[in-house]
Order: sequence, then structure tokens, then C-alpha cells
Amino acid sequence: MAKKSLPLSKVYSLLESGPTVLVTTARNGRSNIMAMSWHMMIDFEPPLVGCVISDQNYSYSLLKATKECVINIPTLEIAEQTVGCGNTTGAKTDKFATFGLTASPAKQVRAPLIEECYANLECRVVDTKMVNKYGMFVVEVVKAWIAPSVKKPETLHHIGKENFMVAGKHIKLKSKMK
Ligand SMILES: Cc1cc2nc3c(=O)[nH]c(=O)nc-3n(C[C@H](O)[C@H](O)[C@H](O)COP(=O)(O)O)c2cc1C
Repeated sequence: MAKKSLPLSKVYSLLESGPTVLVTTARNGRSNIMAMSWHMMIDFEPPLVGCVISDQNYSYSLLKATKECVINIPTLEIAEQTVGCGNTTGAKTDKFATFGLTASPAKQVRAPLIEECYANLECRVVDTKMVNKYGMFVVEVVKAWIAPSVKKPETLHHIGKENFMVAGKHIKLKSKMK
């Protein structure tokens, strides 16, 4: 395979490709949504997830104060709204109203679920040691919801700027992983 040098500024576009998710937070009766692609699984059970959230985002202050969020996983049907939530700030606007998304109450946390997402993970922040340096919150999923009707979710995978891959094709390979 012939290779060429890749600018370091583009490295993220190769590794970022977990599903873009919508993180909801809530404080003082107001809820917010932001798009997030920089996340990683850290443990199976209880499920731990590392989330990189910039301190420039309104969601950062909500998450830091409340230590609760929901990771909602959108699919192609709400791609425009997903990108919209990633390009506007909820500091002054209600993104649920702006993007026509529906909030429903979570069981374990105050942040709402997004109805239109096929999966919703209710989370509590369990480790903030890397927040100041990297904006990295380690969250524990304390309750998880899935829509069984969605068999092959067409999740959105950010590959830089305005570009996304859409998942959906499933294959089986032998593996010892869970
Ligand atoms: C596809 C996509 C992925 C994003 N991923 C992240 C991310 O991982 N971390 C982050 O801090 N911001 C990320 N953003 C940017 C935030 O979603 C954006 O700054 C948003 O406006 C923050 O909203 P808020 O100010 O209401 O919290 C992403 C945006 C897009 C469009």
C-alpha cells in the first residue's frame, strides 16, 4: 500500500469513528443537548465510558455541576438535528424546541432521554481526575435503554468536518471478546 504523510491535525478523523452521540444534561429545570464523538469504552460492567467535553461548551458546566448525563445514540433519521446540536450552544436556546426533539424522563438521573434516539444510557460521573487537563469525564452507565425494533441501527460516525460514515452492515467474526 503506497502511503503519504497525513497532517497531524487530521489524525482525529481516523480514530474518532465511534458513533456520534447526543449528551443530555439538566440543571434548574432546563435541559441541554450536545453532540459528542470523542468517547471511549473503559470497562464492561459496570460500563465505564470516557467522555471528552470541552470547557467551552455549556454542557461542560452542567455536567461538572450535576455529575449526571444521558448518552443518547442517534441514527441517520435525525442526522440533521444531531449536527445542529453540535453547532449551537444551549446557553441561551432550548435545543429540544429548536430541533424538534422529544425529552422523556430518565429513571436514575435528572438529565432527560431523547425519545428519537434508539438507545439511551443514563450516566453518573465517577471520576473527574482528568477533567482539568483533558476535559475527560469518566462516567458510569447506571441504566440503559434500547429500542428492540431497531435491528441494524444506522449510526453516524464522524470522520472530520462535515463528513460522516453511516453504519448498519453487520458481519460475524470469531473473537474472544464479550
Ligand atoms: C459531529 C460532532 C461531534 C462533536 N464532538 C464533540 C466532542 O466529542 N466533544 C466536545 O467537547 N464537543 C464536540 N462537538 C462540539 C459540541 O457539540 C458543540 O460545541 C456544541 O455546540 C456544544 O453545545 P453546548 O454549548 O450547548 O454544550 C461535536 C460537534 C459535532 C458536530
